[in-house]
Amino acid sequence: MIRLDEVTVRVATPGGDLVLLHPTTLSLTEQRVALIGSNGSGKSTLARLLNGLVEPSDGRVTVNDLDTTRDGAAVRRQVGFVFTDPGAQLVMPTCLEDIALSLRRSIKDKKERLAKAREILAEFDLADKADTSVHALSGGQKQLLALAGVLSTNPAILVADEPTTLLDLRNTRVIADRLFALSQQLILVTHDLDLALRCDRALVIDEARVAFDGAPADAVAFYRQQVTR
Ligand SMILES: Nc1ncnc2c1ncn2[C@@H]1O[C@H](COP(=O)(O)OP(=O)(O)OP(=O)(O)O)[C@@H](O)[C@H]1O
Ligand SMILES: [Mg+2]
Repeated sequence: MIRLDEVTVRVATPGGDLVLLHPTTLSLTEQRVALIGSNGSGKSTLARLLNGLVEPSDGRVTVNDLDTTRDGAAVRRQVGFVFTDPGAQLVMPTCLEDIALSLRRSIKDKKERLAKAREILAEFDLADKADTSVHALSGGQKQLLALAGVLSTNPAILVADEPTTLLDLRNTRVIADRLFALSQQLILVTHDLDLALRCDRALVIDEARVAFDGAPADAVAFYRQQVTR
């Protein structure tokens, strides 16, 4: 379970302290939780708190009782993170090597690791791309590969920060169907309100606060009203 206890995030700027998240207490237990809200409202800040990419200035974030500040490495083994731009997380020259890199902790034998990496590529319809440069993939294929890499580490929770924003309609559907088929808990930051509606709970973030927290249909209605107000 993900818990935030009185969490505040502040950063020092030349103009003084800037609050990125006002004191927030919540627990996330639902299988699929959407974070929606305007640009710059604080969604990514909240998402990044969940795997320790951002640390609280005050308060505590815990994932299955692990503190993201104290036990950052252990938390990151439990919480996979998918970025909007898959290029940010594809680091090896070829697709096969990229997946193999993600498996290095779990499979020590290289031959076995490469065989497993091929298997994973096949599961994600990328079998024919094994020896292709990651840079030669289309945007949708890159996002699939990034997702495959993160899932190959077997995280208990997946946080995805606008994973479909750069994708066309077809690839949005491909990635979304993958995400919604997961047995893991999914925390999904999205501007795609149709995706938010498919979740079990949605938080509307506004001006560094959780402005609404509840059923996705109500959250989307709240957000729409807020924008037109
Ligand atoms: N390290 C930082 N230093 C200063 N300001 C920051 C930092 N990180 C985030 N911010 C500011 O905090 C606010 C919230 O940023 P955040 O990235 O969480 O928004 P967001 O809701 O994810 O927006 P978007 O929908 O555009 O991705 C923005 O105004 C951003 O400029
Ligand atoms: Mg963001």
